[in-house]
Amino acid sequence: MATLNWIGKEAVANHDKEVPFKLLKKIPSASVGKESKNLIVHGDNLEALKALMPFYKGKVKCIYIDPPYNTGNENWIYNDKVNSPKIREWLGKVVGMDGEDLTRHDKWLCMMYPRLKLLSDLLRDDGIIFVSIDDNEAGNLRLLLDEIFAEHNFLATFTWIRKKKGSFLSKKIRKMTEYVLCYQKSQNDTTFFGEEAYSDKWQPLVKRTNSTKKLLFKKNIIETTLPDGAYKVSFYGKPDTGINVTKPFTVKDSRVVTDFEVEAKFVWTQSFLDSELKSGTRVSLSSQYGLNVLRHDQGEKVKTPSTLISGENMVGTNEDATAEISSLFNKEIGTTFDYPKPTSLIKYLVKMVTANSDEEVIILDSFAGSGTTGHAVLDLNKEDNGNRKFVLIEMVDEVAKNVTAERVKRAIKKYEYDAGFEYCELAEPLFDEKGQINEECSYNELATYIYFTETQTNLEKKIISKPFIGESHGTSYYLIYAGKDKNDLTRVTIEKLKLTGPAVIYADRCLVDEDELEEKGVVFKQIPYEIKVY
Ligand SMILES: C[S@@+](CC[C@H](N)C(=O)[O-])C[C@H]1O[C@@H](n2cnc3c(N)ncnc32)[C@H](O)[C@@H]1O
Repeated sequence: MATLNWIGKEAVANHDKEVPFKLLKKIPSASVGKESKNLIVHGDNLEALKALMPFYKGKVKCIYIDPPYNTGNENWIYNDKVNSPKIREWLGKVVGMDGEDLTRHDKWLCMMYPRLKLLSDLLRDDGIIFVSIDDNEAGNLRLLLDEIFAEHNFLATFTWIRKKKGSFLSKKIRKMTEYVLCYQKSQNDTTFFGEEAYSDKWQPLVKRTNSTKKLLFKKNIIETTLPDGAYKVSFYGKPDTGINVTKPFTVKDSRVVTDFEVEAKFVWTQSFLDSELKSGTRVSLSSQYGLNVLRHDQGEKVKTPSTLISGENMVGTNEDATAEISSLFNKEIGTTFDYPKPTSLIKYLVKMVTANSDEEVIILDSFAGSGTTGHAVLDLNKEDNGNRKFVLIEMVDEVAKNVTAERVKRAIKKYEYDAGFEYCELAEPLFDEKGQINEECSYNELATYIYFTETQTNLEKKIISKPFIGESHGTSYYLIYAGKDKNDLTRVTIEKLKLTGPAVIYADRCLVDEDELEEKGVVFKQIPYEIKVY
């Protein structure tokens, strides 16, 4: 395997381990509902991913990320607190404006490396990661992912058609595609679904050879990617879709909710259409692809997805993404967020690996932007009654609450999703600069962290019953922590615990001698010094 080297690689090799562990602080006023198990975290994902570790390590089924592409025009800043002279020189500098900064690829790799390592730790053994990228860093990203996830866990590079025609002003070649790299955490038998809705069996209803006729589609029959609204124009669709809509129509919740009368060179007659619809044939309308049908007898088979993602899979483009956000924010296209992805793309990817799962599965997006992944997860759950939960992380102050959370909140309201989310900020580090436990830290937070560092597994908070934290492989874990200087391990405390097997007990001081501890099967660990740092 070829190994990628870049300036700063050595300095960030263990950066994921050096990042201080911070606590998460829930902000009820910015949250929606209670106990939804969906989460939006405001903060740098390096710190946020670390903060999530005691709760989510090895638990995430699907990660989708859409990091800065390093185009030179994005204004992203490399700001990680890595203590190397080269990196200190870069800190806080906007990366690659006008492409002048020759180290912009190094900075991007330094930024991505520790984050991808943390993401890999969060994935389940049968977990899958999808990473969006374009030509600027596609080559580097492939080698980076090969290194972190191992080359043999590479599954595919999907090509997503992000615009229909591309700009004819392009100097040499019109770029119409981007990529999504896909890796598995380990060799596993996850089934990939490219099932009916995404099969290539959607067929156009209009063929050029037949004579023009009118067809009537009763309301609520047609699925559509068009945003909600009343379409007053009598002609709708680009000329090459060959459709002439003869009456105004209305779209709500991805359906045409009025009778829809269309003139075109249809192959089908009205009676054939009606009998097909009765048998379960589906009809879709999109601005770019016109009217298409998915025949009742051809689409039900489970199919492995192809590496091409396009309108054929009912996946929209950048334009659709912008229109989706605008329709939620009631603003002009483009005013709310640059470079969003369409929900259809993320639904397509997430469904690909979670379509057959009734269990609760976690979907993580640590470059959340406008919150498309949260919206996509809720929409998929509504469609197939699924039990997916999302975790989103967004760093930029103005974006996290006003765009990421606000978009998901508006989508919940508008589409009546039966869901909510908890909004969190990153709080202080668990340990202060002198290595002391932060006074803000609650008993449960400290207990969860200790259990995680001892066992590398996550703890159900409900199990905690002070001073008992939890049990793992026959060893019980205890934490005596009632505030500063009040945490002694005494003979009486041990008696009260009524131990039946080996135990590890964390406290400030131990007033029992070593022989006695050994006789009782107790290992004493002093806080804070013997709490391992993750
Ligand atoms: C290309 S956008 C993602 C767009 C998103 N997929 C959507 O559909 O809206 C990348 C996002 O990642 C955020 N971001 C960049 N660096 C980050 C970091 N270190 N931690 C968390 N978020 C970050 C940016 O602020 C931006 O909102």
